[in-house]
Amino acid sequence: MLFSSLSAQAALLSLFAVTSPYVSATPLKRASVCNGYSELCSRSFGNVTFVGAHDSYAVGATNLAANQDYNVTQQLTDGIRMLQNQAHSASDGSIHLCHTDCLLYDAGTLQDYLTSVKSWMDANPNEVVSILLVNINNLAASSFGSVFQSTGLVPMSYVPTSTPMTTSQWPSLGSMIDAGTRLVTFMDNGANDTNFPFLIPEFGNIWETAFDVTDPSFSCAINRSQGDTSQQMYLINHFLDATTDIAGFGVPAPAKDQLNVTNAQSGPGSLGQQAADCIAQYSAPPNFMLVDFYEYGQGSVFDVAANLNGVAAPTNSIAPPIINATSSSSSSGSSSGALTDFRGSGRVTGLALFTGFLVGIWTVS
Ligand SMILES: *[C@@H]1O[C@H](CO)[C@@H](O)[C@H](O)[C@H]1NC(C)=O
Ligand SMILES: *[C@@H]1O[C@H](CO)[C@@H](O)[C@H](O)[C@H]1NC(C)=O
Ligand SMILES: *[C@@H]1O[C@H](CO)[C@@H](O)[C@H](O)[C@H]1NC(C)=O
Ligand SMILES: *[C@@H]1O[C@H](CO)[C@@H](O)[C@H](O)[C@H]1NC(C)=O
Ligand SMILES: *[C@@H]1O[C@H](CO)[C@@H](O)[C@H](O)[C@H]1NC(C)=O
Ligand SMILES: *[C@@H]1O[C@H](CO)[C@@H](O)[C@H](O)[C@H]1NC(C)=O
Repeated sequence: MLFSSLSAQAALLSLFAVTSPYVSATPLKRASVCNGYSELCSRSFGNVTFVGAHDSYAVGATNLAANQDYNVTQQLTDGIRMLQNQAHSASDGSIHLCHTDCLLYDAGTLQDYLTSVKSWMDANPNEVVSILLVNINNLAASSFGSVFQSTGLVPMSYVPTSTPMTTSQWPSLGSMIDAGTRLVTFMDNGANDTNFPFLIPEFGNIWETAFDVTDPSFSCAINRSQGDTSQQMYLINHFLDATTDIAGFGVPAPAKDQLNVTNAQSGPGSLGQQAADCIAQYSAPPNFMLVDFYEYGQGSVFDVAANLNGVAAPTNSIAPPIINATSSSSSSGSSSGALTDFRGSGRVTGLALFTGFLVGIWTVS
């Protein structure tokens, strides 16, 4: 009697062991919502469209050098999931986020910026976020690596399983969230260092359309790339510049009066239209869409992404455009002027500096 009862118990236990989901020593935790949507958990990172902030650090409503109204924390809260930044070697030896040159616009250290990103990501554990660093001064990967280490972002960083990754090789958002490696950092040059494998070379993994365009037709032509574009993710630079005449110099700056059109879901010159044009050309939507002053259009840029992702439009309210600010209260960066990106050139011309200072005088007056 006792024996049979015990063996029945053993049989039950062994049955339990085979069928119960609770036997694993460390229970599996599976994200059920990824970047706001359950549908995105099973989707490859390479199969999702994200909205990005062009010059995420360049904040200020009236400064010609600014590309955003709100700081990175607000950007992330409102739905921005790629943070594009220009990294410069500052005179104090640290990396600062500057526009064209730190003499023209200095938004402070990469360290402070990444500390804000880390706080937001800690508070939002089901979000995958990308950073795109423009390494203007060709700094060594180790310079960036040490800032990632000191801000605690290394354990959160995704390390690719191969270099480069094809679009379909990227893991699902759900698996990145489950593994806790949900920060994806690309760098335009200098990232190829095995000691810092979380700094991922941009080109080879992503190709880009032209940036700083003044033509609102927004060509989808491949402008910068390395490797096989048919296998890579791609990024569209959907921000429009206009040339302002400053003392006889043509100075490019964001075309703010066109933002409602540029950021719109549809119509000539809109984000939705460029995405549609690029889909027609490449049979796949852009993975990353960089915009200026993302909140103009009342969230239209996020609606475009949701539509491309085949999910419902987001329902959160976002920060309003800062239409009417004064220069003293609006800019968080110390700045004396404007200018275009000069990305890839790695140097600033005397003319650019001169016009930058002229714009600076013009802006603060
Ligand atoms: C992801 O895959 C779906 C289904 O094939 C497709 O409709 C969608 O356009 C893809 N998105 C991206 C960004 O590749
Ligand atoms: C970022 O902006 C928000 C308002 O949008 C503000 O509450 C917050 O203090 C700012 N954070 C920093 C670090 O400046
Ligand atoms: C990365 O560096 C290695 C040597 O350090 C080199 O062989 C390889 O071609 C580089 N790859 C890229 C994409 O630059
Ligand atoms: C990239 O775009 C810029 C601006 O439109 C253009 O001047 C340049 O020739 C383009 N480069 C390539 C390789 O297409
Ligand atoms: C953009 O749209 C908002 C809301 O509809 C409006 O308040 C704002 O004046 C518009 N701005 C421009 C530049 O058209
Ligand atoms: C612009 O600023 C003026 C003066 O501060 C204020 O009266 C007006 O309501 C503001 N307009 C907007 C659209 O914020």
